[in-house]
Amino acid sequence: MASCFKLCCGRDSDRKEQKGTTWRIFSLKELHSATNNFNYDNKLGEGGFGSVYWGQLWDGSQIAVKRLKVWSNKAEMEFAVEVEILGRVRHKNLLSLRGYCAEGQERLIVYDYMPNLSLLSHLHGQHSSESLLDWSRRMKIALGSADGISYLHHHATPHIIHRDIKASNVLLDSDFQARVADFGFAKFIPDGATHVTTRVKGTLGYLAPEYAMFGKASESCDVYSFGILLLEIASGKKPIEKVNSTTKRTVTDWALPLAREKRFDEVADPKLSGKYVQEELKRVVLVALVCAQSQPEKRPTMLEVVELLKGESKEKLSTLENDELFKVDSPLQEDSSEFISEEKDPKEAKQVAASGGEVTDVS
Ligand SMILES: Nc1ncnc2c1ncn2[C@@H]1O[C@H](COP(=O)(O)OP(=O)(O)O)[C@@H](O)[C@H]1O
Ligand SMILES: [Mg+2]
Repeated sequence: MASCFKLCCGRDSDRKEQKGTTWRIFSLKELHSATNNFNYDNKLGEGGFGSVYWGQLWDGSQIAVKRLKVWSNKAEMEFAVEVEILGRVRHKNLLSLRGYCAEGQERLIVYDYMPNLSLLSHLHGQHSSESLLDWSRRMKIALGSADGISYLHHHATPHIIHRDIKASNVLLDSDFQARVADFGFAKFIPDGATHVTTRVKGTLGYLAPEYAMFGKASESCDVYSFGILLLEIASGKKPIEKVNSTTKRTVTDWALPLAREKRFDEVADPKLSGKYVQEELKRVVLVALVCAQSQPEKRPTMLEVVELLKGESKEKLSTLENDELFKVDSPLQEDSSEFISEEKDPKEAKQVAASGGEVTDVS
């Protein structure tokens, strides 16, 4: 951890420039005054790491400040990983780092403020009743977040896996462009490695089976989570829903039979009131389901996902439609819910930290 922290924070200058963008070290005093002393009224959200507050700097610019709840080695690690990774990456669909503060036991991360908050708040939370997500916005969010993740997997060096792709970690700017956020669980994949075996972190309902069960983390785990996210965007359903008091159903178990019978209209979020582009909806649902299939080797890469979502190649779309997965007579997927032991409201979505399966950890 110490070496990881030094890489990004241990330099003499306190201002870093990267591709024309700058991040810097903030003083605790400055962040206190920007957030009105971390006033409860400024609170934007809460995650595993701590609370996030809205603030305004002396130059009038708006920021979001994530403040570590309680200091611990684990939290310090998450802080270092997030600063390290965000400080390196710049992409229109990834949340930008403005800087950080590490004074005494205080650990804070400063980002650009995203005025439309998280995708979760629009799908299931405080903004869901306003129905601001029409179909074209949903398509833009799907494509944008796919682009952001694709950049992490295929263009960042070393490659990065996010490990916690979900609706609360996709933020929306003033133009409803998606910005993938929250890099506390992210990992670098060393050159040439296919996967790393590691402690399982992430959120129930989004975890790829091979990762949840054996701790095998690779790009395809993010692809799986992204598939769940796509189904959520198209249907407005949560990753796991209670069917009755004793039974839970995953969104894939619900959507796959509908897709096989080509009943795509029934997958669409009722909040769209039938206003969507049929071809696009079908594409989103099919791509989602190939992403969220249990065998990792059958999932597409994020580069392929972006291409498929754009729908530019008729040939690739027809291959997708004819995938074995969508044959009416092929067996339904293995039940992926057997290892899902509990369901939580996404607002307080439990982050799993199972200790089993740790063989090698590259961090
Ligand atoms: N830059 C931001 N602009 C607006 N809201 C944000 C911003 N960053 C985080 N939030 C809100 O805070 C929540 C938690 O932030 P996140 O980075 O996911 O923290 P954690 O690591 O604790 O999960 C997000 O789901 C979102 O609602
Ligand atoms: Mg989060």
